[in-house]
Amino acid sequence: MILALETSCDETACALVTGDGHMLANVVSSQAELHARYGGVVPEVASRRHLELVSAVVRQALADASASLDGVQRVAVTQGPGLIGALLVGLQSAKAIAWSRGLPLVPVDHLHGHVASLFLEPDPLEPPFLCLLASGGHTMLLDVQDHARRHVLGSTLDDAAGEAFDKGARLLGLGYPGGAAIDRLAREGDGEAFSFPVARLEGLDFSFSGVKTALLYAVRDLGASVEARRADLAASYQRAIVRALVERTEEAAARTGAERIAVVGGVAANSELRAGLSGATLAPLSLCTDNAAMIGSAARYSQAVPHPRYLGLDAYASAR
Ligand code: KG4
Ligand code: ZN
Repeated sequence: MILALETSCDETACALVTGDGHMLANVVSSQAELHARYGGVVPEVASRRHLELVSAVVRQALADASASLDGVQRVAVTQGPGLIGALLVGLQSAKAIAWSRGLPLVPVDHLHGHVASLFLEPDPLEPPFLCLLASGGHTMLLDVQDHARRHVLGSTLDDAAGEAFDKGARLLGLGYPGGAAIDRLAREGDGEAFSFPVARLEGLDFSFSGVKTALLYAVRDLGASVEARRADLAASYQRAIVRALVERTEEAAARTGAERIAVVGGVAANSELRAGLSGATLAPLSLCTDNAAMIGSAARYSQAVPHPRYLGLDAYASAR
């Protein structure tokens, strides 16, 4: 049994996953409400909240699985990328648990974790496949060659897709986090009401800063009538982002000859994206946004660091 921790952003999460990919517990405590009043995640506030919650989520995961630490053989933890202070809380907690029990520790890359959300039972996806990873921090097209290796085909040059959703939601006064709020409101609006163009770059990269600016101008031009058009704005904005994601993914599939496409990350929860890539394997909704089950899943394919050598491990903030 693998005990996994994830604290890279504003979710404090602990999961228990078996070596053959069964999820025994998956506890996620979201801090979204805490950060909502600031309109986004405040790193120092996130770190402090992780400290308060981390023991509780570990206890809860063990209780959910009717297990104790005696049944744990490996401890896994997100090492990066993410908010450095937030990551350090998870990393130090994982080190403490592993060291106190004489267990090995598996440092996991958060992006590998998102991809590995597809490797869990009951419906694991077997590589190779083309993977669209769209989250609050990253937007990439990955050629997933096997369970542990992936090659980046394209990524965003500016904002991540989730970030574009969050910033758009803020402009529309929908609060944080905004992706799910835009998704809900868009159902009541007309996706063709406004034409928000998304940059078409050469290659397989993305850019979402232009669409965000287009929304800003539309909101400004509408003035007092924004209120009446909010649903149309949300629907049109979502349409533009989703169209860019779907087109680029289909282009990548055509170029690489990939037979299977998968979608992971927080934005994979978006209903219009899920409909637009309905032929693809979509990460289960509960595993799209940050969680520790995906980290435990990735740990099955990563090298463990033996006790006590991992005590020197450090977290990293940027993708590598
Ligand atoms: O994967 P994730 O939990 O965290 C990162 O690793 O960044 O992704 C969070 C992002 C946020 O930007 C959030 O607005 C977005 O995923 N998101 C959505 C939806 N649900 C979450 N975006 C669009 N539609 C949704 N339904
Ligand atoms: Zn994530």
